[in-house]
Amino acid sequence: MTVLRVFKWTFINKHFIITLLLGMLAGFMAAYFLLSPPEYVWQALSDPHTSGQLEGLSGPVNDPGSHGSDEFFHRMENSSVADHLAQQVRVLCWVMTGPNNHQSKAKHVKNTWGKRCNVLLFMSSENDSSLPAIALPVKEGRNNLWAKTKEAFKHVYNHYFDQADWFLKADDDTYVVLENLRYMLMNHVPSEPIYYGCRFKPYVKQGYMSGGAGYVLSKEALKRFVEVGIHNKSICRQDADGSEDVEMGKCMEGVHVDAGDSRDALGRGRFFPFVPEHHLIPGHVSKDFWYWKYIYYESKEGMDCCSDNAVSFHYVSPNQMYVLEYLIYHLRPYGISYHVDMPITKQQQAVKTDGTV
Ligand SMILES: *[C@@H]1O[C@H](CO)[C@@H](O)[C@H](O)[C@H]1NC(C)=O
Ligand SMILES: *[C@@H]1O[C@H](CO)[C@@H](O)[C@H](O)[C@H]1NC(C)=O
Ligand SMILES: *[C@@H]1O[C@H](CO)[C@@H](O)[C@H](O)[C@H]1NC(C)=O
Repeated sequence: MTVLRVFKWTFINKHFIITLLLGMLAGFMAAYFLLSPPEYVWQALSDPHTSGQLEGLSGPVNDPGSHGSDEFFHRMENSSVADHLAQQVRVLCWVMTGPNNHQSKAKHVKNTWGKRCNVLLFMSSENDSSLPAIALPVKEGRNNLWAKTKEAFKHVYNHYFDQADWFLKADDDTYVVLENLRYMLMNHVPSEPIYYGCRFKPYVKQGYMSGGAGYVLSKEALKRFVEVGIHNKSICRQDADGSEDVEMGKCMEGVHVDAGDSRDALGRGRFFPFVPEHHLIPGHVSKDFWYWKYIYYESKEGMDCCSDNAVSFHYVSPNQMYVLEYLIYHLRPYGISYHVDMPITKQQQAVKTDGTV
């Protein structure tokens, strides 16, 4: 008798609880879809729109292409200064990537900003002639980024030293405006021991450059890094591990390469470790976020954050690279034009002085 009652109770209890839970779940879902504005439901189901959702998406399958330089609006452009600087301030870009990213990310760098580098290389652990990607003798993974960085710069030094004046490292989710990089560098000579990027304060006395925003070494900096630093354990970390950018910063300081100031004349930044939205919108990045403690130079929020000649942004999704291409190289407000005079680079100045003295 008592056994039967206990059994009955347990049965009812279990049944009751399961029914209750299922009922709550069904009710919640029905209410969620009924009460949410329709666009959110649609979005949640199939059509991502927010930047957070877009970041994870792979890039376009078909190349979006480009507008022709013979089109009416592009014919009105005068790129002679940029073309001149591309000859005078030669930049080799090497992009940190891996076999899993060759098609999903690296390809889109090549289709967009990468084509404006004087030399473009993708550093990987597998060859891929379509990029081209180079198989460095390293393992993949976060714990090998430092080893990969050292091998990449060694490869560049051994095979491309004469083909460029400046040597840029970027990630496969960094977007770079090459014209503005050359504009910044034209006031320097490649024989200066200096490197530029988004300067962070901790870990290294003179600071170090954020890895994601990309950093650019002068020819002299590259030479010292490979010839003096890399194989000396009292200057550079010898194993594969460690934060690539911090270790690079220590090495650069060890070989007496200066951490340069990449801000413009108005004190606005040029290299950025996040997408423009994070820097432009006041309050978007909370004040206790590590970024504010890390930055070497005080940075303003809002439009004052960012130079009109900004060079790089990080965490740019493959799709967003094509959006930036369109906004920077195609979209024009009708009726506004500007003119720049043909500049004389520091390098040309130095040659001139040498010639006349
Ligand atoms: C990658 O290509 C280079 C040059 O063609 C070759 O020397 C090297 O052995 C290749 N490496 C791998 C891992 O296939
Ligand atoms: C390594 O660097 C230290 C510090 O600059 C220097 O004293 C030492 O001679 C270097 N060692 C070699 C083998 O070059
Ligand atoms: C383009 O700009 C350069 C530099 O300002 C100038 O010398 C040249 O005459 C311009 N060309 C045309 C076609 O306007």
